[in-house]
Order: sequence, then C-alpha cells, then structure tokens
Amino acid sequence: MRLDKFLSVTATCSRSEAKAAAKAGKISVDGVVIKDTSFQLDENTANVVYCGKKIEYKQFTYIMLNKPQGYVSSTDDPKQKTVLELLPENFKKLGLFPCGRLDIDTTGLLILTNNGQLAHRLLAPKYHVDKTYFFTCYPPLDESSASALEKGVDIGEKSLTRPASLKYESDGTQGTITVSEGKFHQIKRMFHAVGSEITSLSRVEFAGIPLDEKLKKGEWRFLSKTEEDLLESAGDF
Ligand code: URA
Repeated sequence: MRLDKFLSVTATCSRSEAKAAAKAGKISVDGVVIKDTSFQLDENTANVVYCGKKIEYKQFTYIMLNKPQGYVSSTDDPKQKTVLELLPENFKKLGLFPCGRLDIDTTGLLILTNNGQLAHRLLAPKYHVDKTYFFTCYPPLDESSASALEKGVDIGEKSLTRPASLKYESDGTQGTITVSEGKFHQIKRMFHAVGSEITSLSRVEFAGIPLDEKLKKGEWRFLSKTEEDLLESAGDF
C-alpha cells in the first residue's frame, strides 16, 4: 500500500497534509524518514510514525457519534445535513456509514463503520440487537400503556412489536425503553399505539455499548477494542 493511502485509510490525515508532513521529515517507516508519500509499505507489518505518533493499521474503522438534532443518518442527502459532516474531512474516503438510522430529531448514540458485513448483520431483523432510548412523552404513560409497550403493541406491521423493557418516572412523562427491533420510527409508533406521543428521543445504548457521557452533541470518538468486540459479538449469532 502507498504511504499516502495508508495515512488516509487510517484516518490520520489527508493526502495533502501527508505530503506536507513528509516534506518536513515528520513521517518515518521502520525508523527511516520517508519524504515521498508514494512510498510502498506492507500495511500489516510496517511501523509508521506520523508527527511522533505510531499509526496502527486497522482493516475497519468504528466510530461512536453523539448525534445532535438536525442531521440525517445517511451518507449523502441533497437537502439535509448528514451525520458524516460531523466527522473530519479526511474520513470521507473511508466509506463509513451509520449502523441503523436515527430520525432527524432523534439525538444520541450512532455507530458508524466501514465494516459492511457486520453493519448488515447488525441491522438484519433476525439479529435482534438491543437498543435503549431515553424518552419524554405526552400524554404521560400509565400502568396499562406501559405494560402494553412491554408486552408488544400493534404498529401496523405483520406482527406485534417484540417485548420491550421499560423504566419510567412515576409521573409517566419520561424514562428509558429497550427494544430489539429497528423498524422505521419504531419508538414513536409504539408510543402512538398506546395513546401517547414522543416529545424527545435520544439513544443511550446500542448492542450493549453505552453512549460515552463525555461526548457532547456532535462529538465523536473511535470505539475501544472492548466496544468493537461487543459490536462483533452482537452480530455473531
Ligand atoms: N425510533 C424512532 O421512532 N425514532 C428513532 O430515531 C429511533 C427509534
């Protein structure tokens, strides 16, 4: 692989930044300063240091994003801002896409990856990946609507929704709900089916991975190795 491609697919920097850094003698491969970014290396074994930092090669990239309102969960859209616009410019070439969709007005945890096979498995209806949302709603839930949500409700699909788990405040206006399906507007339709409406929705956990509380809205970070393993195992059975 060319050095500039290596730096680009590891999301280290753009090709032009790589060129400038190489010219300035800030890139080394196996201890030798490399000034030409067309230099060929073996991505699996080369020890690449960029501006003093060792760059690990990974076949796939996994990102956790705290999605703000006003962004669509797709890779491009003619009219709306996409979640990809919240990532650095040089990530564009990585081929990242969101693992599932959050509505434009839903906030919270969105995982993006370029591991197409895994993302496909995580989204396939038969895999039942758990997703937890913090909600506010109105009119408030009462015991019977809450219990209906837990057991399964009719949202106009072939079958009732799968059992959900629900925790809510005694006044019924907010709480968390965990579902193992991801149908279009799933949570909003479930609440509507029991006579309530969602007034705000934020995903706080996906496949056992909680949203990092340190991430402000619009901020992102790479998944840790443990989180990557959780994701892999959620798409594993
Ligand atoms: N359910 C919804 O209704 N909207 C989302 O964005 C996610 C789940």
